[in-house]
Amino acid sequence: MQRGQFSSRLGFILAASGSAVGLGNIWGFPTNAAENGGAAFLLMYIILAFLLAYPALMAELIIGRHTRSNMVTALQSIASSSRAKTAGKLTGLGGILAATFILCFYSIIAGWMIAFMLEPVAHFFGMEALGNWLTEFSLARNLGFSALFLSLTVLVISAGVEQGIEKWSQRLMPSLFVLLAALIVYVLLQDGAMQGLKHYLVPDFSQMADPQLIVRALGQAFFSLSLGVGTMLIYGSYIRSDENLPVVGALVTLTDTGVAFLAGMLVLPAIFVAQELGVTIYGGDGSLIAGPDLIFQVLPALFDGMGTTGLAVGFAFFVLMTIAAVTSSISMLEVPVAYTVETAGTSRIKATWLIGLGVFVCSAVVSMNFDALFGLVVTLTTEWAQPLLGVMLCIFAGWIFNRNSILSELKQGDAGVEQGLFWKVWPIYVKFFCPLLILLTFAQGFF
Ligand code: TRP
Repeated sequence: MQRGQFSSRLGFILAASGSAVGLGNIWGFPTNAAENGGAAFLLMYIILAFLLAYPALMAELIIGRHTRSNMVTALQSIASSSRAKTAGKLTGLGGILAATFILCFYSIIAGWMIAFMLEPVAHFFGMEALGNWLTEFSLARNLGFSALFLSLTVLVISAGVEQGIEKWSQRLMPSLFVLLAALIVYVLLQDGAMQGLKHYLVPDFSQMADPQLIVRALGQAFFSLSLGVGTMLIYGSYIRSDENLPVVGALVTLTDTGVAFLAGMLVLPAIFVAQELGVTIYGGDGSLIAGPDLIFQVLPALFDGMGTTGLAVGFAFFVLMTIAAVTSSISMLEVPVAYTVETAGTSRIKATWLIGLGVFVCSAVVSMNFDALFGLVVTLTTEWAQPLLGVMLCIFAGWIFNRNSILSELKQGDAGVEQGLFWKVWPIYVKFFCPLLILLTFAQGFF
């Protein structure tokens, strides 16, 4: 069977950045920064993204391209002992399950983004009741919009790597950059924006050593770069052989942190612009309102306060969110789909629809038991599974994967890689520092 492949370097970079840039960047990062000391969080996040997340990303990309297969087959095939093969199988299956469950909760939030995108449209046409229904929490709305969002995801993935993932990433990512830039310029011109910028960019260093800040920043970096669950591994398996992996990996990391940084320039100033318009931005305990209330209450209140312009700005903001979400969710769905197609021989279209349906059932169960299950699924997948699977991937790259195979893999894209900095640092780094540092940060969260 012919495997899919990205047709160009730009195509891969846009697809992988599309996976990385998502609700994690535009929602997660700014709210985390607002809660954890603004620039102190930003700084810690940038340090961890390059020190820990980038090496882990490289582990996935190299394993993926070398084995040209899904996570289970990939980890099994780089292992030589039967014990390591079993560990590879379990890790791979764990990754596929984690990716699927991440999609379950992601599709619920992404559905809200579509609903909030349509609200200004309903408002514009005078359909107030519909507008209220769209923005009020209800089971019918949650189910309807996560189904709609999942259908979009399924449509892209069923079209394959080049015609689906690459084509849509190439269309959507440039639109995302333009929208983000336009919104930043607009918000920065409003009264109050400078105060928000200050809150974001002047670090409160006393918060830097706060264990919660470090754990949050690491979690944010891993989620944001889509690590640990085989997303980047499978995208890596579709890169052309002559591509220089350390360079494309670095470009993806830069784009991802860059967009997170820019999203902070949009959301934090917007909070203070909202305050100028009379919106309450501090909670009862005196800290900034963050979490879901920030995106679904503070910002909509801001758009409301801006009259007719606010309708356009609000619409643009939630279009941005929806685009960011789709290019990420397709990379989650690709993980179980590639596995099913490659191991069970199912056709791509059939596998995509079946798994999409399964994910919808899962997100419906979560929606129906929202208070009990939503937080639990988020915690289990992003705070437990992702870091632990990340450690396993580093162990596979550092201890199990044959060093000469890695070197020859990298040489295909850069004949002089052996003399370069990357080869001097990365192999030792991914072997010792990455697993240790990830485990330490992870463990710290519990003490
Ligand atoms: N990185 C994306 C975001 O920031 C989400 C994402 C896509 C993801 N694929 C993933 C997260 C795989 C974890 C694992 O929104």
